[in-house]
Amino acid sequence: MTTTLITGANRGIGLELARQLKQAGHDIIAVCRKPSPELEELGVRIESGIELTDGKDLAELSRRLGDSRLDLLINNAGVLRSSSLAEIEDQLDDFRLQYEVNALAPLRVTRALLDHLEDGARVIIITSRMGSIADNTSGGQYAYRMSKAAVNTAGVSLAHELRDRRIAVGLLHPGYVRTGMTGNTGHIDADEAAANLIQRIEELSLETTGSFRHANGEDLPW
Ligand SMILES: NC(=O)c1ccc[n+]([C@@H]2O[C@H](COP(=O)([O-])OP(=O)(O)OC[C@H]3O[C@@H](n4cnc5c(N)ncnc54)[C@H](OP(=O)(O)O)[C@@H]3O)[C@@H](O)[C@H]2O)c1
Repeated sequence: MTTTLITGANRGIGLELARQLKQAGHDIIAVCRKPSPELEELGVRIESGIELTDGKDLAELSRRLGDSRLDLLINNAGVLRSSSLAEIEDQLDDFRLQYEVNALAPLRVTRALLDHLEDGARVIIITSRMGSIADNTSGGQYAYRMSKAAVNTAGVSLAHELRDRRIAVGLLHPGYVRTGMTGNTGHIDADEAAANLIQRIEELSLETTGSFRHANGEDLPW
């Protein structure tokens, strides 16, 4: 049995990952601030009340896991707030929030749960192609892009650091997905994104650890 912990599992892509991985037979630990009715309906283990930017909550999550062992950790939670050069002085709180949630939290969560990870486990970070420097052809969205570029860097360092424990780390872009984050605009629904992500997670190995891929299978440029 594969035990899988997913952050941001109450809605959007995280909820669909929880639903589909449960169907595939995983034991799910769904982490969120507040459970949604849709998450409660899944009948999975829910660890709620966890604010991912709060070190005390991360320690509490680790404590609650007790002697649970994780085969798969999916750092999915994220936040997008519009930002621009012109308004940066009025948006500093939003810049910092995106850095805290998108860049720091995946690293802090992974650190907090390190002792629960099985040797040979997988760690996934749901990043964005908007964090690609080479693929940035339109500019703007400074804070989100910076936070996702930062988490990409963290993911590669994690891949190096965790190799000794045979833990593979994957940086995955879900596609442009209709969720709350995008105001329900996008190319695909969250169920399709989750299905694609699961295929890429299954392919991840120590040979491909530290890779940055689109959920559709393309390798993405840094
Ligand atoms: N949708 C897209 O097109 C797209 C494209 C590229 C990458 N992504 C990435 O995919 C991931 C999932 O996005 P989504 O579209 O599913 O977004 P979403 O529907 O807005 O869901 C975001 C999730 O993150 C959680 N979260 C945010 N801040 C948190 C915090 N401080 N502590 C705990 N949980 C927090 C939210 O919890 P609450 O309900 O408590 O706020 C929610 O569960 C994100 O990392 C996002 O950057 C999405």
